[in-house]
Amino acid sequence: MTDSDYWARYYAVTVDRPPWDTVKFAIGLFAADDADADRALQHFAVDLGCGAGRDARQLLRAGWRVLAVDRERGAIEALEAATPPEWRPALETCVADIGTVIVPGCDLVNASLSLPFLAAGRFWQTWKRVLAALPIGGRVAAMLFGDRDGSASDVSMTCPSPHVIRASLASFEIEHWVDREEDTQTALGEPHHFHMVELVARRVR
Ligand SMILES: C[S@@+](CC[C@H](N)C(=O)[O-])C[C@H]1O[C@@H](n2cnc3c(N)ncnc32)[C@H](O)[C@@H]1O
Repeated sequence: MTDSDYWARYYAVTVDRPPWDTVKFAIGLFAADDADADRALQHFAVDLGCGAGRDARQLLRAGWRVLAVDRERGAIEALEAATPPEWRPALETCVADIGTVIVPGCDLVNASLSLPFLAAGRFWQTWKRVLAALPIGGRVAAMLFGDRDGSASDVSMTCPSPHVIRASLASFEIEHWVDREEDTQTALGEPHHFHMVELVARRVR
């Protein structure tokens, strides 16, 4: 099975799945900031490795403008097909490699289960670039794999230890952090030991 075949199956299984807690948490934090400041802004998010778009659609549902990026054309097609027409004007899509794509200035970079698929050099370059794209007050919402994940020995992937991830966020206030392990299955039913690091962090300097 090619990578594209694998991901096509993944999109078919996940297209109707709910958004991850990280993106829901980030949307709520921006809403609270806006309520405190008595303002109504349309926020802008970049969703890196959007897949079939469970998080991108949650952002659109909340009134955000979204740039959704994935290197698989099938991901973008699945996302677009599942997006109601009334949300389409707020959605921009891009078939690109998240390791090289230019991340525009935005309020939120969301990356759920996508950055771990970059090998170490590209992972850290991309992570630093993503964090640098955010203004003060901007947020990152990410689901990363930790160093005890079943994929940790795969050199084509990156699964840093939670304390290394935390150390990379020195300019950020961590607002949501879950470090959890579970023996379960992938979306395609393969047994896998997951070590997930889920985070939302706000740039403070
Ligand atoms: C596990 S899926 C997660 C998809 C979606 N974020 C979700 O949570 O349902 C990983 C996604 O990352 C994408 N991806 C992996 N490496 C990538 C790369 N270097 N550039 C762009 N997309 C990539 C895959 O094509 C796939 O759609």
